[in-house]
Amino acid sequence: MTKRIVVVASGRGSNFQAIIGALERGSIPAECVALITDNPKAYAIERAQAANIPVVVVDYASFATRELYEQALLSALKNARPDLVVLAGYMRILGQAIVREYAGKMINIHPALLPGFTGLHAQRQALLHGVKIAGCTVHFVDDSLDGGPIILQRSVRVMDDDDEDTLANRILIQEHIALPEAVRLFCEDRLTIEGRKVRTRLTP
Ligand code: GRF
Repeated sequence: MTKRIVVVASGRGSNFQAIIGALERGSIPAECVALITDNPKAYAIERAQAANIPVVVVDYASFATRELYEQALLSALKNARPDLVVLAGYMRILGQAIVREYAGKMINIHPALLPGFTGLHAQRQALLHGVKIAGCTVHFVDDSLDGGPIILQRSVRVMDDDDEDTLANRILIQEHIALPEAVRLFCEDRLTIEGRKVRTRLTP
């Protein structure tokens, strides 16, 4: 059955665009029923409008407390009735209520080979550490920081003359492959979480 996807993004939305592209090509058996953003200036909004995807802005700045913001975000999510929530450049840490509500149904893309380099500026952390291989990870979201069960990873080489931008761009190309691929596997019911491990069935 066609799955209902909700994408949550805070900014540029290039990963969101990669999902839109895959949906338009028919490579994911799903419909994107909403973009939810915490940032009224997010470029992701324009991408959603161009693809006729409804936009819900839950403007972080307009709430008196973080708790009130989280409640509003949870109701926006519930209203959209998602089978899968995709965090595609959502730049905040989610509260426990939302993480619990969507346990096993929420995935995130992180620009590092987890469990290394969690949190912000992952590419900078990788460069400072001197790693030779970097990459990205798509994982289920649990209540740890970038620590949930890993669905898939893609790697890139780190070049001697890389700076944060060149490395981030090389990783981003792989993110745009990894995230739609993980969404497709989820929507084809091919992923099973067993403790820390995600098993992937080879055929739909
Ligand atoms: C990506 O690098 C993603 O891994 C990280 O934030 C960035 C978002 O980029 N979580 P975009 O908004 O998808 O272009």
